[in-house]
Amino acid sequence: MCGIVGAIARRNVSKILIEGLSRLEYRGYDSSGVAINNEEGVYSHRAVGKVQALKDKFEVQPLDGKMGIAHTRWATHGKPTEANAHPHFSGDDLALVHNGIIENHEPLRRELKDKGYEFKSETDTEVIVHLIHDAMKTQPDLLKAVQVTLTKLHGAFAIGVVQKDDNDRFIAARKGSPLVVGVGIEENFVASDQLALLHVTDQFIFLEEGDVVEVSRDGVSIYDAKGDLQERPISVFNHNIDATDKGEFRHYMMKEIYEQPKVISACLEGRISESKVLTSCFGADSAFLKEVENVHIVACGTSYHAGMVAKYWIEDLAGIPCSVEVASEYRYRKVAVPKKTLFLTLSQSGETADTLAALRMAKELGYLTTLAICNVPSSTLVRESALTLLTNAGPEIGVASTKAFTTQLTALLITSVAIAVENGLSAEKEKALVQALRSLPAHVNDALLQDAHIKEVADRFANKHNALFLGRGTMYPIALEGSLKLKEISYIHAEAYPAGELKHGPLALVDEDMPIIALVPHNDMLDKLKSNLQEVAARGGELYVFADKDTDLNNEENIIFTEVPKVDSILEPIVHTIPLQLLSYHVAVVKGTDVDQPRNLAKSVTVE
Ligand code: M6R
Repeated sequence: MCGIVGAIARRNVSKILIEGLSRLEYRGYDSSGVAINNEEGVYSHRAVGKVQALKDKFEVQPLDGKMGIAHTRWATHGKPTEANAHPHFSGDDLALVHNGIIENHEPLRRELKDKGYEFKSETDTEVIVHLIHDAMKTQPDLLKAVQVTLTKLHGAFAIGVVQKDDNDRFIAARKGSPLVVGVGIEENFVASDQLALLHVTDQFIFLEEGDVVEVSRDGVSIYDAKGDLQERPISVFNHNIDATDKGEFRHYMMKEIYEQPKVISACLEGRISESKVLTSCFGADSAFLKEVENVHIVACGTSYHAGMVAKYWIEDLAGIPCSVEVASEYRYRKVAVPKKTLFLTLSQSGETADTLAALRMAKELGYLTTLAICNVPSSTLVRESALTLLTNAGPEIGVASTKAFTTQLTALLITSVAIAVENGLSAEKEKALVQALRSLPAHVNDALLQDAHIKEVADRFANKHNALFLGRGTMYPIALEGSLKLKEISYIHAEAYPAGELKHGPLALVDEDMPIIALVPHNDMLDKLKSNLQEVAARGGELYVFADKDTDLNNEENIIFTEVPKVDSILEPIVHTIPLQLLSYHVAVVKGTDVDQPRNLAKSVTVE
């Protein structure tokens, strides 16, 4: 989604801003722009397409100045055109960048038009800059005019504003969309996330909801929603900076797929002993584990699929009811909350608008407590949840979630066992599960050894237009995740079904043009699944089977077989995910799509 970078320094900031935008490219966008302040005024370049198009404009006509704001836009109101790209101006006095959506932009636009303001774009953003301009007629101080304006806006936003003839400060604010301050030496910055500023600082201040910040070379002054000056702590970014580097890999996605053994180990570290789950991993307040009688899991996209797997684990191991719901549905319905229910959110980014809204709603509904399983320690979701279990996957840059998903599953399995222990799971069974978890990184590594074979399988997919994924039990959510991954990056239409549903409808689709991807774990559903495969084979369908050797399945007519390591059945959903990630990746490479930044998608979905 949209990304913001702002900078003020004693040096030219244009390169800092553009490098910041390049670092935000992974979030997804369709146009970009920069405004630079200098002694003569505020000047800007805007371009449609990649940040490279903006760089090309700077090559032709450099803009130099010691303060500026920059933006990558993911179109919501108005097409991705240069006119709709940010920054937006009010006259030549003010320039503004904005992330989020202003829900009441239509009445505001009408009011401003009545006052004589002319609109040059179709965006909701343009109302903000004119409103600030209008407020300055009675309140000439930019900071105060911004504070007045924010009270008129409905919706979620983060903004950055610069003013002509004021080269010593800019103003930024956040409500509902992320914004972080980067603290330097005689230079300071803001950005939508820390990664955008790692080339200039590793010290960050996380703004809270409603904060307005005045950013100058010598420091930052932060005002809360009431207008009171606040001190906010500085945190040091402690990930290895190489985490944002592709290294030897062609795409971030492939790098992140290959990082999984390492990051799953990081997720397990300090959370399990030789034989037990260490409940201290939930923080000082792990007493909820003894009390919880129900679990509600809420998430979006891939994170939702992780939650679906956890439902099987929690009900099977702990024997307590668990429901899973997509956040965009949960947040708009009346939810019945049984006594002693844990509200559990899952999110890679911790900034997904629907998940955050669901959490805020849940806090009013009498849940036992709120637990976030999240990858970004500084995220809004983590800060607003009572308890957190970090997935420790490190920055995930590829839009298609890979290592974030398998570490979510790892964290969920830890959580499921911890809840189960308080619900009668024997010490012996706990030890067996913990030992299975300890073996997980090695099994994921073994699954990656099929990469070359899967690359060959992917060649057969390049000319397909549809695909059907089948699984039973915990393999059903993995089938959903496999189909999401394939459609997301290769643009092949894919669906997933519980295999038992085949004859209730989707079998009608099966013919020699429809590849069927079957996830076949070696468990007590094996014979049932084999019957489902027979039904497909009998209709000429081409079967791509992912199974371990002991299933007795193999390459034969109509079956393209990929071996998946034989593991404890509890680990099967995690280990079976790996070949599906590799399949989607290689299909996308064959098709020549933009693997890391698929069309129309954003990494961090900060608007509804
Ligand atoms: O950051 P989150 O985990 O909350 O994001 C939720 C979804 O937007 C995300 O999982 C999306 O489905 C992925 N791009 C899928 O690969």
